[in-house]
Amino acid sequence: MAQGGPRNVVISSNNGLACNEIAMSYLERGRDTLDAVVAGVNSVEDDPNDDSVGYGGLPNEEGAVELDASVMHGPTRRCGAVAGLRHIKNPSKVAKLVMEQTDHCMLVGEGALRFARAWGFKEENLLTEKSRLAWMVWKQSLRDAGGHNNWTDGLDAPGKPSARLRGAFPGADEELLAYAWDRAANPPTGTINCLALNAKGEMSGVTTTSGLAWKIPGRIGDSPIIGAGLYVDQDVGAGGSTGRGEENIRVAGGHTVVENMRKGMSPTDACLDTLKRISRNYNDDKAKLAKFSITFYALRKDGVYGSASLWSSRTRDGKTAPQRFAVNTGGKSRMEDCAYLYASF
Ligand code: GLY
Repeated sequence: MAQGGPRNVVISSNNGLACNEIAMSYLERGRDTLDAVVAGVNSVEDDPNDDSVGYGGLPNEEGAVELDASVMHGPTRRCGAVAGLRHIKNPSKVAKLVMEQTDHCMLVGEGALRFARAWGFKEENLLTEKSRLAWMVWKQSLRDAGGHNNWTDGLDAPGKPSARLRGAFPGADEELLAYAWDRAANPPTGTINCLALNAKGEMSGVTTTSGLAWKIPGRIGDSPIIGAGLYVDQDVGAGGSTGRGEENIRVAGGHTVVENMRKGMSPTDACLDTLKRISRNYNDDKAKLAKFSITFYALRKDGVYGSASLWSSRTRDGKTAPQRFAVNTGGKSRMEDCAYLYASF
């Protein structure tokens, strides 16, 4: 994954194919690298079908969508972030305004919302029918020690629970219900991280997410934490992450990736080394590590880039296969293989 010299490059997580093309079109028109990556991820924040970012992102345990985002601008060495932001579907734009229009680095919760309101952002219901269904399925899947849940009907209720759920969501077909059950059982920490370099050697990055599905209200992951979900050093390069934020915060992953590159590691090795630190936090116990996923992305100032995930994925017939990340060096985006620390089992 090595090509030489500053030039237009955009990389992002595997949900970033279209994002990267938008960002690249900005770079090709000579626009600023931060404008480029924010415009790119806005398309994912606006997409109701990406349930890990922005509008349609899976909510907290109370059904409220809380969004986190951070931005870093290499040339000015500035940053901004918002966390626990409700009702505003483009937290990355608000994070950019925190960077540009305040002398703070991060706003959270109600304060972030008031700031967004002051700047004219429209408040919206970010819960789609699809994400509401997944949330209701999750609530109904919970049980106390006696097997009871107040959110499912009593012993005297007629019909099967699945039929009643279908009645409450008449638009839900089998595929949608299967999706909701999968999300209830496996709460995702999706996210998009997008990093860009232009031909002048300028760099910026953004990370935006709805965070861990079904989280405790107020939980903040790694995405808005400068140095964890994102870090850019104009002298070296940029690093970012998707996946379980709690693990990333404990190794300051974005910063670690960049510092590793400063010490001379390739972008891919910088990501792998950061994953090793996460593994070390569990004494390399694969049974524990198998309970989460996390991926790092790195873009060096000379245009060399890489990515590595904690686990590989598996093909349908059980073979080890790399995870993928999205790359654009001009024209259409493509998927490239991530390195991985462990082959999934
Ligand atoms: N990486 C996103 C989160 O954990 O919230």
